[in-house]
Amino acid sequence: MLVRALRSLFVLLPAASATCEDFATYSTRPEGTPSTGPLGLPFMRPDVGCRTFNSSAVEKVVANLTSRMKDPDLARLFENTYANTLDTTVKWFNDNLTFVVTGDIPAEWLRDSVNQFKVYLPLVGHDEPLKQLTRGVINLQARYITQFPYCNAFQPPPESGLPAECCSGDTGAAVSPPENLTIVWTCGYELDSLLSFLQLSRRYYEFSGDDSIFTFDNGGWFNAVENVLQVIHDQATPTYDAAGNVISFYNISGPNQQYMKNDGRGPPKANTGLIGTTYRPSDDVVYFPYNIPHQAMAVVELRGLASLLRSVGLRPDIQATATARASSVETALWKWGTVLTKDWGEVFAYEVDGFGGAAIQDDPNVPSLVSFPYLEFVNASNSIYANTRKMVLSTTGNPYYGFGPVIRGVSSPHIDEKHVWPMGLISEVVTGTDDDDILTKLEFLKNTTTGLGLMHESVNTHNVTDYTRPWFAWCNSYFGEAILQLAQTKPHLVMKDGDAFNLTTVLLG
Ligand SMILES: *[C@@H]1O[C@H](CO)[C@@H](O)[C@H](O)[C@H]1NC(C)=O
Ligand SMILES: *[C@@H]1O[C@H](CO)[C@@H](O)[C@H](O)[C@H]1NC(C)=O
Ligand SMILES: *[C@@H]1O[C@H](CO)[C@@H](O)[C@H](O)[C@H]1NC(C)=O
Ligand SMILES: *[C@@H]1O[C@H](CO)[C@@H](O)[C@H](O)[C@H]1NC(C)=O
Ligand SMILES: *[C@@H]1O[C@H](CO)[C@@H](O)[C@H](O)[C@H]1NC(C)=O
Ligand SMILES: *[C@@H]1O[C@H](CO)[C@@H](O)[C@H](O)[C@H]1NC(C)=O
Ligand SMILES: *[C@@H]1O[C@H](CO)[C@@H](O)[C@H](O)[C@H]1NC(C)=O
Ligand SMILES: *[C@@H]1O[C@H](CO)[C@@H](O)[C@H](O)[C@H]1NC(C)=O
Ligand SMILES: *[C@@H]1O[C@H](CO)[C@@H](O)[C@H](O)[C@H]1NC(C)=O
Repeated sequence: MLVRALRSLFVLLPAASATCEDFATYSTRPEGTPSTGPLGLPFMRPDVGCRTFNSSAVEKVVANLTSRMKDPDLARLFENTYANTLDTTVKWFNDNLTFVVTGDIPAEWLRDSVNQFKVYLPLVGHDEPLKQLTRGVINLQARYITQFPYCNAFQPPPESGLPAECCSGDTGAAVSPPENLTIVWTCGYELDSLLSFLQLSRRYYEFSGDDSIFTFDNGGWFNAVENVLQVIHDQATPTYDAAGNVISFYNISGPNQQYMKNDGRGPPKANTGLIGTTYRPSDDVVYFPYNIPHQAMAVVELRGLASLLRSVGLRPDIQATATARASSVETALWKWGTVLTKDWGEVFAYEVDGFGGAAIQDDPNVPSLVSFPYLEFVNASNSIYANTRKMVLSTTGNPYYGFGPVIRGVSSPHIDEKHVWPMGLISEVVTGTDDDDILTKLEFLKNTTTGLGLMHESVNTHNVTDYTRPWFAWCNSYFGEAILQLAQTKPHLVMKDGDAFNLTTVLLG
């Protein structure tokens, strides 16, 4: 409490930022007046002078929604999490570029930063500085992907004057194509990182109508998109050519790299029409090269890319390539990505290789199997999705389903089998169709912040004080997105008066 009082005093001084505590420490102990619900959750937003970005639209949404929510603990969690990315992770920005860190890791992940900002997109038409900030995320990602299309996480841009951080997990690694660790943080090839960039571009344009992303930096966005399509083309190439030679477009090995077989090329790919990836959305190496959630996201985002370009009347050649690729991946997904199981009927595999190998499980990071409706690939009523969901959310159908008195849900070998990821439960909420089940999942999420009022990466199924990552901005944004979605589409679950939350009315009010 003394520490907090001092901080409040110091923010009155002009040189406030010098006294702002690192959020990595701040997030490990409760702050502020507890919420009035039974859990008494702390207020975990830094003092105004210590926040990394101010958005009037975000403040309006927070103030209006929290005052109308029936559960004060849930309202407190919304307040803390929804604003967390802007409060704590905007490390640097100017008129054109935005550098945003994951939270406790001082680098920008393509996948995380897209998900961190996605939740603010419906607000950009009502908040010009927020719109500019979001555009800056896209512009900088376009530059990164133009330079290093196989890499997944990056250092601050030179314009920021911020030093390259030490020490990336790729220190001492041999990567091909080569990386440059003054620009890159890690170079794990993950298809969904590239698709995330397409997703943010598409949705940003839908909400803002701002076409300046296409012209900035002499059309640098198109160079990035061409790289994405080239990587997709190359990674859809099978391992063996007609004469049995092994083809490799990307390989990585080094002291910190996980067990990457075959001289860093990973497991072999059959000729299927699917697109290979080397890492999962958890940043673990794949068991099999064709990750099915990645394929689902590719179908949606390649079609989305084509429709975005159609709506602005640009680059028919890219529209045609993207549309054709989306169709071939979709056909291959239904052919190679589904498996007939003994107990669950026909389901989606998590990963396959096209030789018959398949991983039957789910992993909690999005894109996941559970998240398919959220990715806009299939609806929850699709029968193969319904079978898959039943399977991966059961104690007998998914080797990575953890359960105990503290929490139950999808766990991940990224930590271990007994740590369940709140992100997986959030995916259950945003794709859920059963009110009671949604409320139970919200309870688990509320009960497992270890009294710290923010989302963790993972929590031990038998010990709530054993968790990972107190400051994980993507998961905070995702939780905020879930609550906002419930307030809009299932208001009887969260609103005092049961009336739907209307974002437009609130933002105009
Ligand atoms: C946010 O607003 C506060 C209070 O007006 C100010 O002290 C702070 O510098 C602003 N932060 C940013 C990043 O603009
Ligand atoms: C932002 O981009 C515009 C257009 O390319 C350019 O005129 C301006 O100088 C840039 N601003 C900064 C701060 O780099
Ligand atoms: C890496 O990038 C930095 C910054 O652009 C540059 O100065 C350096 O020459 C590059 N190193 C290599 C090996 O290309
Ligand atoms: C690694 O990938 C490069 C292409 O980036 C390829 O030329 C090289 O042969 C591959 N190396 C191995 C050991 O497979
Ligand atoms: C999901 O259902 C809605 C409404 O019935 C429909 O418009 C949409 O196309 C469906 N989406 C998919 C991916 O099937
Ligand atoms: C959450 O915690 C409350 C209070 O301790 C308890 O009553 C409830 O059963 C818990 N909910 C879940 C889903 O564990
Ligand atoms: C629970 O986890 C905490 C933090 O890891 C640890 O200190 C404690 O010993 C654990 N409690 C039990 C009963 O294992
Ligand atoms: C929200 O309110 C606006 C008017 O302010 C109305 O046009 C719109 O249909 C409403 N949205 C929903 C989802 O009800
Ligand atoms: C929330 O916004 C609505 C629409 O502008 C307004 O009618 C209502 O009074 C606001 N509620 C609160 C508590 O701010």
